[in-house]
Amino acid sequence: MNMTNGAVWFGIALVFIAAIISDVAKRRNMSGPIRHRPPPPPVVKLTVFIGLLHTLFTKGLQEMMFDQYKRFGSVFTVNFIGRKVTFLVGPKVSGHFYQGLDSEVSLNMFEFTVPMLGKDVGYSVDSAIRNEQNRFWTDALKPSKLRTHVGPMLQEVEDYFAKWGVQGTIDLGQQFGHLIMLMTGRCLLGKEVRENMLDEFFTLYHEMADNGTHLFSMLYPYAPTFANYRRNRARNKLSEMLVEIVRLRRRSNQVEKDVLQSLIDSKYKDGRPTTESEITGLMIALIMAAKQSCSATITWTGVRLLTNPRWLALAIEEQKEIINKKGNYIDYNTLLEMYNLYLCIKETLRMHPPTPVLIRKVHEDFIVQTHEGHVYEIPRGHTIASPILLNTNIPHIYKDPKVYDPDRFAPPREEDKVGGKFSYLSFGGGRHACLGEAYAYTQIKVIWSHLLRNFELKLVSPFPKTDWSKVVPEPKEKVIVSYKRKQPPSK
Ligand code: HEM
Repeated sequence: MNMTNGAVWFGIALVFIAAIISDVAKRRNMSGPIRHRPPPPPVVKLTVFIGLLHTLFTKGLQEMMFDQYKRFGSVFTVNFIGRKVTFLVGPKVSGHFYQGLDSEVSLNMFEFTVPMLGKDVGYSVDSAIRNEQNRFWTDALKPSKLRTHVGPMLQEVEDYFAKWGVQGTIDLGQQFGHLIMLMTGRCLLGKEVRENMLDEFFTLYHEMADNGTHLFSMLYPYAPTFANYRRNRARNKLSEMLVEIVRLRRRSNQVEKDVLQSLIDSKYKDGRPTTESEITGLMIALIMAAKQSCSATITWTGVRLLTNPRWLALAIEEQKEIINKKGNYIDYNTLLEMYNLYLCIKETLRMHPPTPVLIRKVHEDFIVQTHEGHVYEIPRGHTIASPILLNTNIPHIYKDPKVYDPDRFAPPREEDKVGGKFSYLSFGGGRHACLGEAYAYTQIKVIWSHLLRNFELKLVSPFPKTDWSKVVPEPKEKVIVSYKRKQPPSK
């Protein structure tokens, strides 16, 4: 073998060895994640699932979920008629749910909303357009615009309670349902709806929402059923009403201060204005997000305040102090000073979140490490659920979670902050956090500060159970309250 041959063979040997090394490395890389892949979460067995349904009907949704949490820890999968739903309980495993990209975990699973919102908004459009539409909402609800709603909100509240007598008994839920309709009419939809067609608008709205959120309509939104027909008919009429208002305002260059106007004035980055159909879809989506959650929260706030004398007294005292300082004048800044009332509402929302469970679809596998130290891989295709109802009641974050204790949010305790990001989820969090939180607090404070200043109130009916059959869980029984006016209404 001469030198040239030796070099050739040496070269071949080197290439061969390099190929083997690279192959081994590749296999390692391929098999590494497979060998070390964490297991999927524990699955609730069918026999347990049947027991679970029993608990659901006898003890309610919260107890049912708590049972599974105690049994399996913070991550577990339930097989719901062929659909694998993995529950993620607690801040440690919630990050990806709330912060994952839409391409990794998405909300693209609510096909039933399309016939109500239309094909030009929400999850029917691509994410770039959707992000811009979210910007329109954000802009319409920002504090500088919210300030202008305080006056009209106060006006509605004063007019409404001026119609109450000197004393009497009322059904709180029914009263607040009506009041929120008036306030939504004025601040979100505007004066045309509020002054000329409020009842017709909300009759149609309820017909659309009630028929569109029947279980069957949610599963088969396009089936030729009577409920779907009624949903479509109501939606078409609502759309006609809104389009007519939009056209009128655009034609006459009329400019109002309501949320509808903000959506009419919104423009995409390329300068394109919003279309009539987009404005209609965005407006209906907003009413769906806003109306029911606010009226349920206002009622639960009443139930909690009227059954907690200490916090009722603190909230009344706070109003007296503010009146001493500022008289009866209320503006946005005055509302921000109502700290005790804020704590009471926040604690109410912890115990009665209007959206008890949020869900997403998993498009890419991801790994979670639980509070208990287990590591699981959540596979693509699973539905993931964030049970807000459990998250805001975890005993290692919230001391005595079943006790109404607004102080838990005040310094030095601040249990939600100590618990870390995603400990308090009543308004969601991350990418799709509620855009109407400030609006909701403003509205609830306007109503409750008026009641605390002007009336003595007592809960006459027993503490209500929760109606878990509703999309937004409300008190199951009527909340009957007796009132006595503190001063006669000023003329
Ligand atoms: C007490 C009252 C309210 C509660 C508890 C509440 C709760 C929530 C929650 C939990 C989400 C997140 C949904 C998810 O991640 O899938 C959400 C989203 C949203 N909320 Fe609220 N909400 C309330 C009132 C309002 C009001 C008054 C408005 C508007 C005026 C509003 C507008 C929205 C919008 C536009 C979104 C969608 C955000 C997005 O998809 O990026 N909400 N809300």
